Amino acid sequence: MKKMLVAAMVLLFAMNMVFAGGAAETSSKGMVGVVMPTRSEERWNKDGAAVKSGLEELGYEVDLQFSDDDIPTQVRQIEDLITKRAKVLVIASIDGSALTDVLAKAADEGIPVIAYDRLIMKSPHVDYYLSFDNYAVGQQMGDILIQGMNLDNPAKKPLLIELFGGSPDDNNAYFFYNGAMDKLKPYFDNGTLKIGSGQQGMDTVGTLRWSNELAMSRMENLLSAHYTNKTLDGILSPYDPISLSTLEACKAVGYGTPGKPLPVVGGQDCIVASCKSILAGEQYATVLKDTRVLGMATVELVDTIMRGETPQGLNTTTYDNDSIKNGKPYIVPSVLLESVIVTKDNLVAEVVDTGYHSAEEIGL
Ligand code: BGC
Repeated sequence: MKKMLVAAMVLLFAMNMVFAGGAAETSSKGMVGVVMPTRSEERWNKDGAAVKSGLEELGYEVDLQFSDDDIPTQVRQIEDLITKRAKVLVIASIDGSALTDVLAKAADEGIPVIAYDRLIMKSPHVDYYLSFDNYAVGQQMGDILIQGMNLDNPAKKPLLIELFGGSPDDNNAYFFYNGAMDKLKPYFDNGTLKIGSGQQGMDTVGTLRWSNELAMSRMENLLSAHYTNKTLDGILSPYDPISLSTLEACKAVGYGTPGKPLPVVGGQDCIVASCKSILAGEQYATVLKDTRVLGMATVELVDTIMRGETPQGLNTTTYDNDSIKNGKPYIVPSVLLESVIVTKDNLVAEVVDTGYHSAEEIGL
């Protein structure tokens, strides 16, 4: 059903594009500034490309920037786009709380701002937020472990787990962590699961800038400090490159050999390398957040704003961005999309058949 929905959306969108194509040739509808955090992660390249091509098809000019995961660079790029008189700014932030001043400048110039995927915090000048339902994504991360570790019918008790969180300056990271932990709580409470190192809480298990290197060295330390005579059974991972690097650290100390299976690890983003790993039976699963669908939703939102219409049906209860607007805590109107758990069983159907990655790319 979901697959058909995605296919139908892609088709509808493509048809729209064909009709809009004529207009694009004759006049530009103005420039939209799009800022992505980094080129070095697979997903943001896909996001940037989807938003750019969709907007261009509708006749907008797009100035797409990548910020090298460097906060001053991102601020400078946004300032530039304001100077160039962008009609709308679409921003995936690096540090969600570092854009307050520059967004005040955008507001002075009357430029609407869309926070893309990551909520921009501490600014009332964020007009909309477009993302996946991040708490639900976190719950899926928990479900992956419940299923993969067979927590409802465990082979032994307790099963040992280690927790990894995303970047503490990314609001999403807390939603992922809390969603997963809420799902896992009953299994901690009933003694099925135990954190081998005892380390928990985003302050302790967060991974700055989602760095897989940092995660790998933390995993190596955890393995040597807590698992020389115990077995690690699972890892909560919020991001595919972290899943892969923690698995590498485990392999380096003998996991993945007869009698010593790799721990069950989930992930997020459905990157090519993780798809390969899932097919090879190493990473257990990932969460697919279809960047094409987020891209289409962004294009639609930008176009609605540009037509002077008010977007309908937004969530206005969840994403408090820690600022005050009109005398009240500001909850940013949000479009929240659905994500999908991908395991070996449905990878072809969800990833290849929908065209997210080609069979060739993932080595099929
Ligand atoms: C995104 C994830 C991504 C992570 C690292 C988060 O804000 O929601 O999809 O894996 O950043 O780039």
